[in-house]
Amino acid sequence: MGSPRSKVEVKGFEARYYDLLMGILTLGQYGRWLKRAVRDTGVGPGWKVVELGSGTGIAACEFSRIIGDEGKYLGLDIGKEMMAKAEKRCRKRKNVEFLFQRIEEPFNTPFPADLFFVSFVMHGLENPDKEKVLANVRNNLRPGGRFAVLDYSQMEVEKSWFLPRILIGKLECPLAREFAEMNFPAFVEKRGFKLAALKKYFLSVFSLYIFVRE
Ligand SMILES: C[S@@+](CC[C@H](N)C(=O)[O-])C[C@H]1O[C@@H](n2cnc3c(N)ncnc32)[C@H](O)[C@@H]1O
Repeated sequence: MGSPRSKVEVKGFEARYYDLLMGILTLGQYGRWLKRAVRDTGVGPGWKVVELGSGTGIAACEFSRIIGDEGKYLGLDIGKEMMAKAEKRCRKRKNVEFLFQRIEEPFNTPFPADLFFVSFVMHGLENPDKEKVLANVRNNLRPGGRFAVLDYSQMEVEKSWFLPRILIGKLECPLAREFAEMNFPAFVEKRGFKLAALKKYFLSVFSLYIFVRE
């Protein structure tokens, strides 16, 4: 069961119109940002990639294009409607697979991954669940492999400019605000990773945190 303080388990109306809603919220830029973040992970041909909370499969298709026939992509999610959209979007991609799997519950991937990617999911997990996810990533990522997290930037929400104040402070779940205000890189680094790069997007509202497994 997900936390009642979270909004990341997307269902019903929101799941049916997820891409449209995100497109409206970002003035049509959502897919473009997500694909840019995928490229910014440094992923290359032949890589084995696991995505946590793969949603409607936008990142999956971009990964599939880059990793090519030698690579493998596995997307884990629990949203039936979101997964159906992802499967439809990626139906012609032979290097892509989706699995119904709670990311905070223990799992073994069929290969040691070169890269784990997660976008707009970590902020919606309670800290003990974040820890369980990090343990799963560590167990299935090869030493030296990358863990890339696209999510809100670190900020003091009330002291920030109006967009993050409204988006994170008012529209999002309380966990999103806690995420923005915690020291997320330090939280991850305490669990066997090292922050290797940090890229900011959209006037620094969003960040791509790239960690390396030690
Ligand atoms: C906010 S959406 C983000 C989707 C996609 N990553 C993106 O950036 O567009 C969150 C996704 O994570 C999935 N999700 C939420 N909690 C999860 C969990 N505990 N285990 C697996 N998937 C989860 C939801 O079903 C949904 O598809």
